[in-house]
Amino acid sequence: MYFRTSKTVLLISGVVFTLLVSALAGNFNQDFDITWGDGRAKILGNGQLLTLSLDKTSGSGFKSKKQYLFGKIDMQLKLVPGNSAGTVTAYYLSSLGSTHDEIDFEFLGNLSGDPYILHTNVFMQGKGNREQQFYLWFDPTKDFHTYSILWNPQSIIFYVDGTPIREFKNLESNGIPFPKSQPMWIYSSLWDAEEWATRGGLVKTDWSQAPFTASYQNFNAQACIWASNSSSCSSNSSKNSWLTQSLDSSSQARIKWVQKNYMIYNYCTDAKRFPQGFPPECSLA
Ligand SMILES: *[C@@H]1O[C@H](CO)[C@@H](O)[C@H](O)[C@H]1NC(C)=O
Ligand SMILES: *[C@@H]1O[C@H](CO)[C@@H](O)[C@H](O)[C@H]1NC(C)=O
Ligand SMILES: *[C@@H]1O[C@H](CO)[C@@H](O)[C@H](O)[C@H]1NC(C)=O
Repeated sequence: MYFRTSKTVLLISGVVFTLLVSALAGNFNQDFDITWGDGRAKILGNGQLLTLSLDKTSGSGFKSKKQYLFGKIDMQLKLVPGNSAGTVTAYYLSSLGSTHDEIDFEFLGNLSGDPYILHTNVFMQGKGNREQQFYLWFDPTKDFHTYSILWNPQSIIFYVDGTPIREFKNLESNGIPFPKSQPMWIYSSLWDAEEWATRGGLVKTDWSQAPFTASYQNFNAQACIWASNSSSCSSNSSKNSWLTQSLDSSSQARIKWVQKNYMIYNYCTDAKRFPQGFPPECSLA
């Protein structure tokens, strides 16, 4: 089911491309509900494109119809262009309630030409505080790029265009919780956070640029769907190779490259924040 857009394919045959995309990519009408924004979120092109917008009155958001318990979930996003300072585009998995689990991508906007921050976090049993932040190696507003979450019983891996940027391993054997029993929905929203998003809140939103718009396409979930208290993966079919996927040696090298060159914040090295010592996973990861 995995399908990557390719300029070459587009050039070779626009017709074949269109047919393949409609056959293989998810359909936003089938897979998602618009949950808020009073008309500011739109599903277009027969379900192939979704846009969120934000103005001074409101942002907007959507949520998956299905719940998932493990999956490899890909989405292509094109972020708010130009002066996006103060805006936040959040794309995440989450369960419900005060002890919820959550796996987050958040894109913090910036002035034209200044870099977005990709903020990531992992919540277990209602507790986050595991932030890592990155700059991207491309302009995320010019084209669509693929942001993926691999969530299986061994680890959670965040990917950007297929390059792993962060791994959170299952370290339950060391007493560290890992999300594995609460099914999650996929959510996304575009909202304003000018108090903190850009340069820690120094740069405010320029509302004369509104509405701000982010776009989504080519959703793909290879995932265990949770319904009526049971998982579509219970039969344990060996087809689900992502369920046992881990970082091979070339992926290990790439994650090191990203972390060396593009990571701008890591809770595991923020000594001021943890004067009593770093969280236990920091020394085990
Ligand atoms: C915005 O640009 C400034 C200046 O380059 C940079 O320090 C900051 O990390 C960028 N991103 C955000 C979201 O503030
Ligand atoms: C799922 O399980 C919970 C707790 O055991 C129960 O309260 C609920 O009714 C179940 N839901 C369905 C759809 O079977
Ligand atoms: C499926 O396979 C995994 C890995 O081999 C195993 O840990 C798990 O218990 C199996 N689940 C079921 C429902 O059989």
